[in-house]
Amino acid sequence: MKGLLLYCRPGFENDCAAEIQEQAADCGCYGFAKTERQSGYVYFECYDPSQVAALLKQLNFFRLVFARQLIAVSELLTDLDVNDRITPVLNAVAQYPLCGDIWVEAPEGDETKPLLTFCRKFTVPLRAALRKGNRLTSKESDRKPRMHVCFLSNQSAFVGYSLTNNSSPFYMGIARLKFPPKAPSRSTLKLDEAIQLFIPKDEQEQRLHPGMKGVDLGACPGGWTYQLVRRGLFVSCVDNGAIDQSLMDTGQVKHYTDDGFKFQPLLRNVTWLTAKDEYGEKVQYPEHTHVNWLVCDMIEKPHRVAKLMADWLEHAYCREAIFNLKLPMKRRYYAVKECLDLLISQLGEQAFEFQAKHLYHDREEITVHVRWKPFKRK
Ligand SMILES: C[S@@+](CC[C@H](N)C(=O)[O-])C[C@H]1O[C@@H](n2cnc3c(N)ncnc32)[C@H](O)[C@@H]1O
Repeated sequence: MKGLLLYCRPGFENDCAAEIQEQAADCGCYGFAKTERQSGYVYFECYDPSQVAALLKQLNFFRLVFARQLIAVSELLTDLDVNDRITPVLNAVAQYPLCGDIWVEAPEGDETKPLLTFCRKFTVPLRAALRKGNRLTSKESDRKPRMHVCFLSNQSAFVGYSLTNNSSPFYMGIARLKFPPKAPSRSTLKLDEAIQLFIPKDEQEQRLHPGMKGVDLGACPGGWTYQLVRRGLFVSCVDNGAIDQSLMDTGQVKHYTDDGFKFQPLLRNVTWLTAKDEYGEKVQYPEHTHVNWLVCDMIEKPHRVAKLMADWLEHAYCREAIFNLKLPMKRRYYAVKECLDLLISQLGEQAFEFQAKHLYHDREEITVHVRWKPFKRK
């Protein structure tokens, strides 16, 4: 392998490059990022190619904010013969681990859009050839690495693989979600995507179930509340705007025209338990939190929102939180990093889990998920 290929939203290549350069260096791997404006991807070439496979494991995809996908790749294949693009791919993957599936993709962008029809058609013969050459299992496997062929033009492509437990589960890193016709705003898709990406499918029903309590700060007109209500939660909406009437009619919503920075949930007694973290260290965990979920989409300075979220979590007002941080115009990666550092330094990684992503449905904002880690009683 030569380096890493990361997909990102077109226009965010520099943020994605600054982030991977720094995160790879933190893992002891040095290299340089190649970017092209509006290309929708970043290629990070490692000075020492023998480090690439380990780096792919070491980086936490769910903490790489601007990367929509994370793939270890070989050298870019160029001058491909349009009559046989399969043989060079087979040669490139000869030394790869056995993979469970193949995605033939192109980065998001106006220039690459016309390639997507070809990508779909090319997948079928390529998959058959890879299976015949024993490079793909005959049944799709969730756990085996996933092979990617990413066409930049009809004669050039990156070939590589991602790890299914450390990558986006979405083709091209893009969650294509259907807009629910009854949702009051398109923002609803941001929270839906965050849930689909941050919470493993087999845990979603248990972590967001009927009867739970949620708070939505900056809720109007109610797109995020809609996602909680449709999962059966009772939601306190905080905003001085108007909440969609059909949400109020469900009987699951209470509207407070308060300032989201001053609102407090109804407090109950919290018992703090001493439990062990994954390394066997003692940590204090709340047995219950005052509400289960906090979501927040207020348009506010990102560090103010980050501080508010950290306070809610620290005081056990909520067990999990999903919130947006609105991005500044410049040095977006560094602004995000300051907010994540604030959260991590106030809450600590011993008891809390952090994830952050520039989602497909986000624009000039990112989405963060923080939760109290599940704990084992002592
Ligand atoms: C982007 S909109 C939220 C959209 C909503 N998530 C949805 O899906 O429909 C931001 C909202 O934050 C509210 N807001 C901004 N500052 C606030 C504050 N300090 N307290 C409460 N709400 C606030 C605004 O009134 C606005 O309705």
